[in-house]
Amino acid sequence: MNHPKFSSADSKDKINSSKKLIFPAGFYWGSATSAHQVEGDNYNDWSEWEIENAKFKMQNAKLKEWPDYILNNYPNPLQEENYISGRACDHYNRFCEDFDIAKKLGHNAHRFSIEWSRIEPVEGKFNEKEIEHYRKVILVLRQKDIEPFVGLWHWTNPIWVRDIGAWENKKTIEFFLRYIENVVKVLEPYVKFWITLNEPEIYVAASYFSNQWPPQKNSLISGIKVYKNLIKAHKLSFKKIHQISPRSLVGIAKNNSFYEPFSNNLLDRLAVCLNNYLRNNWFLNRIKNYQDFIGLNYYFHDRVKFSLNLKSPSGIFAENKNRNEIINDLNWEIYPEGIYHVLKNLKKYNKPIYITENGLADAKDEKREKFIKEHLYWIHKAIQEGVDVRGYFYWSLLDNFEWDKGFWPRFGLVKINYRTLERKIRPSAYEYAKICKTNELIL
Ligand code: FCB
Repeated sequence: MNHPKFSSADSKDKINSSKKLIFPAGFYWGSATSAHQVEGDNYNDWSEWEIENAKFKMQNAKLKEWPDYILNNYPNPLQEENYISGRACDHYNRFCEDFDIAKKLGHNAHRFSIEWSRIEPVEGKFNEKEIEHYRKVILVLRQKDIEPFVGLWHWTNPIWVRDIGAWENKKTIEFFLRYIENVVKVLEPYVKFWITLNEPEIYVAASYFSNQWPPQKNSLISGIKVYKNLIKAHKLSFKKIHQISPRSLVGIAKNNSFYEPFSNNLLDRLAVCLNNYLRNNWFLNRIKNYQDFIGLNYYFHDRVKFSLNLKSPSGIFAENKNRNEIINDLNWEIYPEGIYHVLKNLKKYNKPIYITENGLADAKDEKREKFIKEHLYWIHKAIQEGVDVRGYFYWSLLDNFEWDKGFWPRFGLVKINYRTLERKIRPSAYEYAKICKTNELIL
């Protein structure tokens, strides 16, 4: 209602009336994963916490009604194994097979992350074998002409970092810099794109402003400290990576949502401004001279009604009033048009943008093809209007461990059988492959 030009009915007309959308030459097409979610056998602050979380989550899960198509899968939300990352997808050992699949699907880029706790399991003791492992991972991608986008921190911390208070402690910045120095020195000949941090706000919100994730602090003061330290860590990492490798390109993966006011009411509009400013732009404004590109993770649209609740999950002074006409298996609203508005908002930073994550949990694979195509339609529109988008990474290549929720949400282009670890390419992945291979979206 606040964007009359792009109301849903109008969007459908526009989508139906176009035929073939061509993406810029050299566009990167791929998918993303993160170490802890796919590798298996990690030992970090999450793997310890998962044991407690499993008990708690199973109790809660029993109170809910789950559809059969979720319960029929293994593991399901009523089973303890669901909440323990364990061997995950065993991607640590099967990365060659997984990259063969990515290649077959026409991907020319791949985003993944390096696990700090493997590289430095004990303070100051760097495990050369693990650095070598990631060198191999990158070389295999390179051999297949798949451009690696390498993440250095995707939410997990080594146990010793946790024990000193993780990102609440300023010392963690120094330790992080030393860790990345060790990694970047070895890997830089093969890597152009580095992503220092994944979604800092989501981490702070879930780990420090609420009880959802370890260390379940629920303290505004702690959260603000963490925020500041992450900003500093990014800026210093940016400098350090450039010192070691001047040709490198460095950015973060930033989750931004599309906020719309529920009504024209001043307070609703105010809540939108506040959330736009604090949740979409604040971090980016702080690091704006310290990034070569912006990585955008887009999942959410929030129709915001002002509420006195300072810390509601839908934002600051915000209650979510989404229509939820189409939702994914996690009940997240699917709202492709939102990515267009988010991209338009990022244009002011005047940096190349890579969509570093966009995807949905869809165990039946009924909505994925349309989801991808509709998001790409809106991305293409933003490009036509001058937004410099240069790549798209679907989340995720594989089904994987979705943090506190565990394995049951199925985000993968590739289905994982968690008993046998067999990989099976979903039909939607072949549809996405057509786009990747032709650089065109046919509607
Ligand atoms: C993003 C995370 C990613 C995954 C998706 C579903 O916020 O970066 O690891 O969990 O959500």
